[in-house]
Amino acid sequence: MENPINDIENQAFEEIQAAKTSEDLEMVSIRYLGRKGILTAFLRSISSLPEDQRPDAGKNANLLKTKLEKAIQQSRTTMKANKADNGPEVDVTLPGRRRGHGSLHPVTQVLDEICGIFLRLGFDIVEGPEVETDYYNFEALNIPKYHPARDMQDTFYVSDNIVLRTHTSPSQPRTMEKTDPPVRIISAGKVFRCDSDLTHTPMFHQIEGLMVDENISFGDLKGILTTFVHQFFDDKTQLRFRPSYFPFTEPSAEVDIQCVMCRGEGCRVCSRTGWLEVLGSGMVHPAVFENVGYDTKKYTGFAFGVGIERMAMLKYGIDDIRKYFENDVRFLGQF
Ligand code: DAH
Repeated sequence: MENPINDIENQAFEEIQAAKTSEDLEMVSIRYLGRKGILTAFLRSISSLPEDQRPDAGKNANLLKTKLEKAIQQSRTTMKANKADNGPEVDVTLPGRRRGHGSLHPVTQVLDEICGIFLRLGFDIVEGPEVETDYYNFEALNIPKYHPARDMQDTFYVSDNIVLRTHTSPSQPRTMEKTDPPVRIISAGKVFRCDSDLTHTPMFHQIEGLMVDENISFGDLKGILTTFVHQFFDDKTQLRFRPSYFPFTEPSAEVDIQCVMCRGEGCRVCSRTGWLEVLGSGMVHPAVFENVGYDTKKYTGFAFGVGIERMAMLKYGIDDIRKYFENDVRFLGQF
């Protein structure tokens, strides 16, 4: 009589060998060792065998059970190892992962935009050093020794005669020393002041403008700045020129624009005045021309300085200047 245990063994091992995936192996295991499995059924049937055959049949069936369990386990381990060698399974139908891409900082964007406006008006771009001499930052600009801008509270001194520039205005004498009129330049970059609150950071950005030629008048200053404000905000924004004082311009004017939040109605942003101060300007002081060797009888010119962060705050409705420099991508990502 053929031995059913041998048949079960041969067949089971064939199937273990043929199994390609862990699911296949699981099926084999269930088919032979499960509650209704072939080997399990055989073990149960032993009690109905003639008594003299029972011990051997029981022993062989139990041996085969252990053997099969071992073989299936081994196969599982080998499969797992092979899978690890080939790396994790890849689902090629999944959509790709997006790589987040950065964008220009809002200050850079506004800087580029303002430079673009002045480039189209025929201005050239020049650059000046951020670490500046006392001479260019103050002296050449007719800012005498006792001027409050030199106060330790405002100026970062590197040494007695070297400062971190407190404004971009040193670009004016630096440019004029190297070039004869006509001059039509803007100069943008970082400036530094020892100041920090809701509307001030120790480092911020300015754009300086300078135009010098024969017959340049305050009318030219008004025309250029009006065009600039209209292009940057919109051409309905009204401007107001208020008399002011800067040591390097005479006359000097501060330029206010109609509040962009309330359109001049009066709100919290403009302290209920309807106006916002956005830049300083004026006709270049003859003393500045003399310092760079320009003929004050022949040439006149105007200059202006704009704070970039402030312009961006007004354009985008940002209420705290410090947000620019906290590197919070939730803020920066909006621009
Ligand atoms: N440098 C001035 C400041 O930082 C701004 C300024 C005012 C620049 C008048 C100018 C100007 O060129 O004419 O406060």
